[in-house]
Amino acid sequence: MKKDVQIPATGLPKSELLAVMKAMKGDDADWKSGRVWSLVYHGGDRHEKLLKEAYSLFISENFLSPMAFRSLKRMETEVVAMTANMLHGDEQVVGAMTSGGTESILMAVKACRDRARSKKPWILWPEMVVPRSIHVAFEKAAHYLGVKFVPVPLRDDFRVDVGAMKRRITHSTVMLAASAPQFPQGVIDPIGEIGRLALNKKIPFHVDSCIGGFLLPWLEQLGHKVAPFDFRVPGVTSISADVHKYGYASKGASVILYRDMEYLKHQFFISTNWPGGIYASASMPGTRPGGAIAAAWAAMRYMGRAGYLRMAKKTIRATAKLLDGIDSIDELMVLGEPDMSLVAYASKHKDVDIYAVADQLEKKGWHTDRQQHPASIHVTVTSNHAVVIDTYLSDLREAVAHVKAHPDLAHEGNAAMYGMMAKLPVRGMVKLAVRKVMEGMYGPEGRVPDLGSLGAGEDDDPLLKLVDRYGSAALKLLGRVEEAKQDLKEKIESALGRLVGREV
Ligand SMILES: Cc1ncc(COP(=O)(O)O)c(C=O)c1O
Repeated sequence: MKKDVQIPATGLPKSELLAVMKAMKGDDADWKSGRVWSLVYHGGDRHEKLLKEAYSLFISENFLSPMAFRSLKRMETEVVAMTANMLHGDEQVVGAMTSGGTESILMAVKACRDRARSKKPWILWPEMVVPRSIHVAFEKAAHYLGVKFVPVPLRDDFRVDVGAMKRRITHSTVMLAASAPQFPQGVIDPIGEIGRLALNKKIPFHVDSCIGGFLLPWLEQLGHKVAPFDFRVPGVTSISADVHKYGYASKGASVILYRDMEYLKHQFFISTNWPGGIYASASMPGTRPGGAIAAAWAAMRYMGRAGYLRMAKKTIRATAKLLDGIDSIDELMVLGEPDMSLVAYASKHKDVDIYAVADQLEKKGWHTDRQQHPASIHVTVTSNHAVVIDTYLSDLREAVAHVKAHPDLAHEGNAAMYGMMAKLPVRGMVKLAVRKVMEGMYGPEGRVPDLGSLGAGEDDDPLLKLVDRYGSAALKLLGRVEEAKQDLKEKIESALGRLVGREV
């Protein structure tokens, strides 16, 4: 830890403090003018002002105690009800607010795991069967909650292969999940088909609509074709939808809904023996910030259905313009057919490295999201981006032309690093390199993460050095070792499964 950073001996004047904080923002990504995709959902200045006022009204209140703060209990109940009605739930649908999509997903996985513990106590190693494209929060939940993560391959249109999903179900499967839509290519999985499978196999089915939950219903009302994804689909037992995304709430607000209390009750944590008293909580945190709940409630009431429809119209028009623009660039292609406002595009020209294009866009001031498998750039369009699409497309055209004229850019800077990280067949090496960056961020120096430093440290993994020295030959060899390792692991797991009488 830095010894010279201490709580100041006496408090600083407010004006000085705020000036320092505002100056700190100077190095941040410029989201307000629409140059950031996916991190911020801006409903306009007037809307933001309302959120700040609503948040600050409840800034000190702690929703750890719904008895002390009945106002917050009422707001949570109403946010849940408004969301459930939007997603066509009936009177039996119940739910809770959480701090975000990841917490909603963690809760859904916990509820399914604990439901299985009570109904099928013979399951020793619970499993979740999910599309390979499902949000990484499911892998995190699997990791935290001791559930085996079973990813299923996608079809050519990036939607999950339901036949493959069916084949991966075992006696230990405690849940299925799919997305509406998934983040990487923005397509909705075949929810209806999976619902039938879930009903048939009597397994709970969670729909992750964290990003689509507050947009798809309005697109449907505007007359766009939206494949059924909500409680109207038989077999769907829970849905997550984030108010802090297209619901335009302030950060820290998501909703987890269940078809009925039979599922939600397994989400609760109750302790009756703690000397501090009987303790019951609906979700992960102890203390729950009142501000986030109040701002979400206010956002939904302030927008109204008319406001959400207006925002949805603006968003989908901007997306259509972006899609047309990308289609008109010969060297690029959109991946799949996005169902709403998430767009991924890749290169179809051998001299145009998409990561080098991303570097050029960054140089022009666009905060750019890179993806892997396949290498692509991801764009989350919101209503706030309507005014920047033309500039973005013109910068994109220039970026592509520049990279085409200088193909060596693929081997420089971040492009080289992303390229290597995406292609390395031994994912353990990538993990190690990323862990080093995390250690730097959270180490005594508190470094700002620097991609360029990936794999460049003195104490680097010897494997990374090997790759540096022997290039693609080493990569291929390592790839084969990795495949053999994976194969062996699966064989051991399957043998163990047979040993305990589990169908694999
Ligand atoms: C489909 C999907 N699910 C879950 C999440 C996780 O949400 P959060 O970042 O609020 O935890 C996201 C985030 O973008 C998402 O797109």
